[in-house]
This record gives sequence, C-alpha cells and structure tokens, in this order.
Amino acid sequence: MAAQEDVFKKIISHCKEYGFVFPSSDIYDGLGAVYDYGQNGVELKNNIKQYWWQYMVLLHENIVGIDSAIFMHPTIWKASGHVDAFNDPLIDNRDSKKRYRADVLIEDQMAKYDEKIDKEVAKGRKRFGDSFDEEQFRATNPRCLENAQKRDALHQRFQDAMNAEGSIDLEELKQIILDEEIVCPISGTRNWTDVRQFNLMFKTEIGAAAEGASTIYLRPETAQGIFVNYLNVQKTGRMKLPFGIAQIGKAFRNEIVARQFIFRMREFEQMEMQFFVKPGTELDWFQTWKERRMAWHQALGFGSENYRFHDHDKLAHYANAATDVEFHMPFGFKEVEGIHSRTNFDLSQHAKFSGKKIEYFDPETNEHYTPYVIETSIGVDRMFLSVICHAYEEQQLEGGDTRTVLHLPAALAPIKLAVFPLTKKDGLPEKAREIVDELKFHFNCIYEEKDQIGKRYRRQDAIGTPYCVTVDHDTLQDGCVTLRDRDTMQQQRVKIEDLRSLIEDKVSIPSLLKGLK
Ligand code: GAP
Repeated sequence: MAAQEDVFKKIISHCKEYGFVFPSSDIYDGLGAVYDYGQNGVELKNNIKQYWWQYMVLLHENIVGIDSAIFMHPTIWKASGHVDAFNDPLIDNRDSKKRYRADVLIEDQMAKYDEKIDKEVAKGRKRFGDSFDEEQFRATNPRCLENAQKRDALHQRFQDAMNAEGSIDLEELKQIILDEEIVCPISGTRNWTDVRQFNLMFKTEIGAAAEGASTIYLRPETAQGIFVNYLNVQKTGRMKLPFGIAQIGKAFRNEIVARQFIFRMREFEQMEMQFFVKPGTELDWFQTWKERRMAWHQALGFGSENYRFHDHDKLAHYANAATDVEFHMPFGFKEVEGIHSRTNFDLSQHAKFSGKKIEYFDPETNEHYTPYVIETSIGVDRMFLSVICHAYEEQQLEGGDTRTVLHLPAALAPIKLAVFPLTKKDGLPEKAREIVDELKFHFNCIYEEKDQIGKRYRRQDAIGTPYCVTVDHDTLQDGCVTLRDRDTMQQQRVKIEDLRSLIEDKVSIPSLLKGLK
C-alpha cells in the first residue's frame, strides 16, 4: 500500500514537472481541489475528449451533441432535486477545526479492517511459502475472520444509516463514528460536532444587485442542460426514439473532502450522454450501454483486469438500475464513470416545474409518452488520471540505467513525433525543420535541438511521445532518418517520405475507434 502511495506521489510530481497538471493559482500557493492543465496536459485532455466525442457522436448515427450554458434557470435545480438533496453529511473536529465528510470517515474505517486482513494474509504468505492457500487462510485465520466480521457489521450499519427512510440518519452516522472510536487525523481526538447536511452547489448572483439580482447555481452536472434541451433537439433534429444527446462541459461541486489530486475536484469536466428510449425498453438499453462503455474503456489496451463494474444495490428512488465503471488506480479500484437508468424522472420533473408538455409522439404506436433515459456520465479529469496512472513507469534498463516513461496510447499522447537534428550545424536543423513543417499538418510534431540525443529521448519518453526521429549527416545523402519507438526503444532507418504513412495511422483517434467492435 505504502509503495502504491509513493508511486502516486511521484505521478503527481511528474504531472507538474512535465507540464501536465499544475495546482491552480500556483504562485499564490494554490486553491484547494482546483487544478490547471499545462501545455502537455491540455493536449492529452483534448485527445481524451475527442476519443469520447468521436465514439459517441460520430459513430452513433442516433446521437447528437450540444453545448449548453453553465448558468441555468435556478428552478432547474429545484426540479432536478439538487437544491433539496445534493448534500454531503459533514462533521467537524472541535480541536483541529477541520471538517470531514462523515461517510468518508466511516468508509476509511472499513478500509482499515481490510488493510488489517491484507497484513495477516501477507504474513501468512511469508510463513507458508509456496504451499500458501490464500482463500483457505482468509476463511479460517481467526484474525482475518474477526476483522471481516467487524467490517461487515460496520458496512451494514453504515448502509442502514445512509439509506434510512426519508433521508440520511445523521445521528446514527455520528454514533458510528463514536462507537468505532474514529479520531481526527490532525488532532488525534474524538471531539466531534454533530453531523449535518451540506449542499454541494456553488451559488452566485446574476444581474446587478440594484436591479434585483437573483441567486443562481454553477451547474453540478452537465446532464440537466441536456434534459432541458430535449424538446429543442428532438424537434429541430426530427429525432426518433431511441436517440441520444451528448455534451462535454464543466461542472462544479463544493467538495468537502478534496483528496487524491484530480480525482475529486471542485471544478471539473464531464462527458455525459442521455439516451432517450421507449418506456419498457430501458433495462435492455442499460445493458447495451454497459457493454458499449466498457468496450470503449478497454480499447485503450490497459488490460481488462483493471476494470470492473460496481452495480449499485441501493438505488435512488427514480432509478431502476445503476452501475459504476471502476478503474484500478494506485489507491484502489475507483469510479471513473456512472451508467444510470433514470426512468422518466428528470423529464417529468421539468414538465411539472416548467408547465411545458415534454413528451414524445411515437408514430409507430400513435401514443404520446415521456421517454425513459439511460445516462452515461464520465469525468474527463478522472479519465485523465486513470490514463496517466496506467501509463507511468519507472523502467530499469540494461546496464543499470533507468528512465521514466509514459506508455500513453499513441492516439492520446500530447505529441506524436519529435524531430531532432543530430547537431546544430551542417544543414541538419534545416532538414529537421523541413520534416516538421511537412508533417505538422497531419499530427502534432515538435522540433528539438537542445542537449545530447539521449537526453532528448528521455524528455520525450517522460511526456509519452510515441516516436522520435533523428536527422544525421547520412540523411542529407540518402534521405533516410532514424525512427525510434518509445516503448521498445528500437530504432530503424526509414525514408523521410515514408514517415507519414508509418506514423499517421498509429497515432490517430480512428485507429483506436477501429479497435472497437
Ligand atoms: N449526471 C450524473 C452525475 O453527475 P456522478 O456520479 O455524480 O453522476 C459522474 O458523476 C462522473 O463525474 C463520475 O463518475 C466522475 O468521473 C465525475 N465526477 C463527479 N464528481 C467529481 C469531482 N468532484 N471531481 C472530478 N470528477 C468528478
């Protein structure tokens, strides 16, 4: 576990050192849970968004995109339930004056029982060597059993409190924290306040105060922009069910526990798609979208063992199925995407609150009805984090050398080709620039002449550039360059005029999409 935490810290430093992610307002010591993307980060992020957009919108004839405003009519958030129910249960420690999410403190406590079990298992493995049977050990070792029983009991109590009739049982959450003797990580004390609800939406005002400003919210999800445009798009696009509307955009949540770098941010980006279907067909579509979304993730080649679905046992009152796509991050399996069958809840609520009729006329059955919705919702930043975490490697090379390399899928890499003149004279820079000037219209290239070739390779490895080309004195005679592959580090002599065909297809988003069935 500690080793994984160290790796994660190194990834965070790497992201800053190589222009991927900077803390926001860095020269003012940062702003909690807000980050900026640097020169390489923005390219990677844009490529992730393109991969999603091209898959969802270009490859699905019945999905179209929109770009709705961040500011929306405040009643939208009343209708959607966010004003009344988009809350986190908070607790303060009176000594440290630090504020925590009560549910997160309890989840961390459950994870501690799991850590204790894992430690016992590790000890057992050491003791019994090759003959170690982990399954049997977990099922029979008294300390494993005791901790598993404590974890399960806590899990049950926690679930009951979170899903209590009406709303979360805040008193019970506090009682659990006291009974489990959970201490504040800063003060080390158990001097807790009561648990209370905290709404996660940011408020601001629209219009000058003198003219009667009104309170509006920064949207906490992009989905509502899609729901309130359902009629506009359906009518103007003459869309027939089933069809989808996709959107990529910023969302804002006043997260209390902001941890794990860009995993939980206060300003982040979502890629959401609402798929409108005939009532009664939604569970089949839910299954279809689960399969499609998982295939999209796995086409990146990170290994199917690094993904899993986490189906929700307890559903929101308006949902009839929900699952998360989880990815194996350095800090465990974590949600990257949610897939939800949201019935006709949102459209019906907007019909009720706006007074407008929001229905579909089905020409096949001559019926009017409110469509049901399957939603796929993925965070761009979480996806970015999963890509970077999987790509990062500190590699031991033959001869005792090491390198840090990002094995990014070539189609997502910020730069596809770096072109180096071997020296800064003899016409080599001019030849190298000629190559960049020709290829830059087809994919992202850079020219680099500083430092020895070895150092230049390392810099490109560190930002995940899949190909480097070196122009040497022979190039001027034979028109060939040395093409070096990031992952294998193998080099081959190729003709300049073949570079485009050798590289273009491998670094394009369509090459990834073609891998999808
Ligand atoms: N419209 C549904 C919705 O917003 P969600 O599960 O709250 O559902 C969907 O969010 C996705 O948005 C998550 O799976 C995650 O990838 C991303 N996300 C949510 N909150 C986030 C945060 N504070 N920081 C970064 N990403 C976040």
